[in-house]
Amino acid sequence: MATNKKNPTLITTVGTMAATAAVAEYQDHYQKTLYDSDYFWDQTARQELRWYSLFHRVQDCDLHAGRIAWFLGGKLNVTDNCIDRHLPERANQVAILWEGDTPDQIRKITYLELHQEVSRLANVLKSYEIKKGDRVAIYMPMVPEAAFAMLACARIGAVHSVVFAGFSAESLRDRICDAKCTAVITADEAIRGGKTIPLKRITDEAIMACPLVKTIFIVKRTGNKIPFYPERNVWLDEEMKKQMPYCPAEVMDSEDPLFLLYTSGSTGKPKGVTHTTAGYLLYTKLTHRLVFDHQEGDIFGCMADIGWITGHSYIIYGPLANGATTFMFEGIPIHPHPGRYWEMVERHKMTQIYTSPTAIRTIARESIDYVKKYDRSTLRVLGTVGEPINEEAWKWYYEVVGEKRCDIVDTWWQTETGGIMITPLPKIHSKMLKPGWASYPFFGIRPVVLNEKGEELNSKSGSEKVEGLLAIKNCWPGMARTIYGDHQRFYNSYLAAYPGYYLTGDGCRLDEEGRYRITGRVDDVINVSGHRLGTAEVENALSTHPACAESAVVGYPHEIKGQATLAYVVLKEGYESNGDLLGELRNEARHHIGAFATIDKILIAKALPKTRSGKIMRRVLRKIASAEYHDLGDLSTLADPSVVEQLIHQHKIL
Ligand code: PRX
Repeated sequence: MATNKKNPTLITTVGTMAATAAVAEYQDHYQKTLYDSDYFWDQTARQELRWYSLFHRVQDCDLHAGRIAWFLGGKLNVTDNCIDRHLPERANQVAILWEGDTPDQIRKITYLELHQEVSRLANVLKSYEIKKGDRVAIYMPMVPEAAFAMLACARIGAVHSVVFAGFSAESLRDRICDAKCTAVITADEAIRGGKTIPLKRITDEAIMACPLVKTIFIVKRTGNKIPFYPERNVWLDEEMKKQMPYCPAEVMDSEDPLFLLYTSGSTGKPKGVTHTTAGYLLYTKLTHRLVFDHQEGDIFGCMADIGWITGHSYIIYGPLANGATTFMFEGIPIHPHPGRYWEMVERHKMTQIYTSPTAIRTIARESIDYVKKYDRSTLRVLGTVGEPINEEAWKWYYEVVGEKRCDIVDTWWQTETGGIMITPLPKIHSKMLKPGWASYPFFGIRPVVLNEKGEELNSKSGSEKVEGLLAIKNCWPGMARTIYGDHQRFYNSYLAAYPGYYLTGDGCRLDEEGRYRITGRVDDVINVSGHRLGTAEVENALSTHPACAESAVVGYPHEIKGQATLAYVVLKEGYESNGDLLGELRNEARHHIGAFATIDKILIAKALPKTRSGKIMRRVLRKIASAEYHDLGDLSTLADPSVVEQLIHQHKIL
């Protein structure tokens, strides 16, 4: 076992510093975690996780080679750490506090009950011959059973792939097929914001093209009539009743996969980002505790959906590993009224709330009486995630919601990073918060700003404003290991462009005091309401319409959603633009990807601006979409520069 006695007090101090440390102390510890990274992670992993057998090597990582492995040889189970470990001490403590789409529906699941439910569900999976290593798709509403399903997979070593319940049948199908899932766990219907979504019907449509799927487990949410095919459909509650409330946890290797989560990239095909067992669990546990200043008795309110990484890391794994009471919300922030979040904060005496800038902007549009009406005095930390937060929204969150009393943590991270990477730390950075700046790197994380040539920029490089590509110069336990079934794609997407660095795909700025501000994606990914959308995915969807000859989709700033989508579409001969056609085109993305991918604006173009070699000049299209008509850069390589004038003219009258 690699041990190092140089800093015997480091980990213990880091564990408690949120309450005590000053900025200088943070910086000192931060530097130590970089300087002696193996020691830091070795000690942290021993202290934080319960192991069946301890690892024999802290890490074996080489970004140049695309090799990432942590805590080699270690054996553990995630649910043993998230549930069993807290028993019997927390048997009666609420583990999952759930509130339904309307405020009259509340469920409280204690740690003992969680143990029993997860065991029963795990036994059901086993009884249907699902075993370690099998992939199980979860297409669920935000109900506690979704958490049970994820944990049940982890219990038996099956690999879950949660698909956000807003995705279409086609998107679900692609994800099920790519992961070669043999089972799907879904519900009859989902309810969100008063609307129902026919999950079972969508699942039936999706699996028509997925012959490997043997069983569909169905949770009853609405009880409405649904198609039911007894050969391979199973009501989950009935099956669970037949099972014992105890299921031994499978012994997993540190590097056994825990889950896949599909996310958008620069190409049309979503990537099955793969996270493994020990490193991911450790990283989410540590970040949850330190970034949200988790204390005994807290009620932690992450408002995300389990269909996204935030739900995985900060509704399920991080908080449960810390023995916290984690809140799970089925609804939306403005239903049945725009004060819903704060009503829930008051009702449950929440201590932290974690949401997206889009949600904040949506609520901030409404009267502040919706906020003031409710008691928010229990709140200590207010978090945001998923997209850049503008200064106005940040200030509203800080002043109106937090009454200048709470720490704001603007947390930057990604599906691929597993957990929070850049963030202020409560109490430590309280006096150094800067609206819109995600601020400082978490322990053990070494971000850098690169220019296009791959040179590191810093405040000493001479330029006044340090701005460029955000990359990470080291490995950390929570990082994704691969893209399911395509390690080369993982390597090409994140590691190949600048050898020795993990490239994030985001642009950033760095100030003189070492704070980072994330400026948004620099690749062909748009961030709509905090949801990642590949422009190529939307273009693929448009191309299925018979009228579409060619399209190019770009993002442009949007007051509420952060970014919105504009599609430039060239029609095939014989088609003419009219209201019906625009409606159909707009619906293509909705239909092929999901409701959240609706195209905001469509501009029917005669032609797209292309270089002489036929490449679309997206930079110009982005500028036009943002109404920045005057600073279009070098157009000399365009085959036909007059196209640009035409597009500007059309955009002005759009
Ligand atoms: O562009 C960044 C943005 O969200 C992207 C990651 O999206 P996803 O993998 O879906 O994960 C979202 C939840 C972690 C990033 O590449 N992003 C995330 N957090 C922030 C952010 N942009 C600015 N500020 C943030 N705090």
